[in-house]
Amino acid sequence: MTKVAIKQAEAQNFAPLLVYLTKKDYFCRMDKEKTYQLLSKQVESLIEGEHNAVGQLANITALLHETMGWWWTGFYLVKGDTLQLGPFQGPVACYNIKRGRGVCGTAWQENRTIVVPDVEQFPGHIACSSLSRSEIVVPLHDGEGNVTSVLDIDSKELATFDEVDARWLEEIARIIETQVTFNNIL
Ligand code: SME
Repeated sequence: MTKVAIKQAEAQNFAPLLVYLTKKDYFCRMDKEKTYQLLSKQVESLIEGEHNAVGQLANITALLHETMGWWWTGFYLVKGDTLQLGPFQGPVACYNIKRGRGVCGTAWQENRTIVVPDVEQFPGHIACSSLSRSEIVVPLHDGEGNVTSVLDIDSKELATFDEVDARWLEEIARIIETQVTFNNIL
């Protein structure tokens, strides 16, 4: 993609399509901060004004997964005392995770982002894919602060995620919370 084409796409508010066109030519040369800065704008423009929660979450996972080249990217949604599998990209995954179980259930119970540099060192880690080596889980909330879901991301490499990923994925989670209606999604 030429520099002129990149400038044009930027001028059009970072149309989501830009992600796919520029992944190799552009993002690879940017540092992680700049990549996330762009990605958060793209998430916003991708889901704003839509009222189809499943479609919005599916598109978010596609955007994040394709852009960042992660192994598994998806949402688990709170239903009763269980997280249930939601829209995702990557290999098949387990359907149900109890509150307090695995990285996802722990992030929900403790209501905090969890970064796991080596999944083998996390007691109770649930291995949906034996190829996952590191992971990050970020909780999302409703207007009253209750956890509605978690964004779960796996990598095939050790120590993929750090405080930069945590900060930006939390920023993206805040955007999703304001644009996606989680009520009755399941
Ligand atoms: N590893 C997660 C389970 C979900 S998969 O990674 C898709 C966990 O320990 O909660």
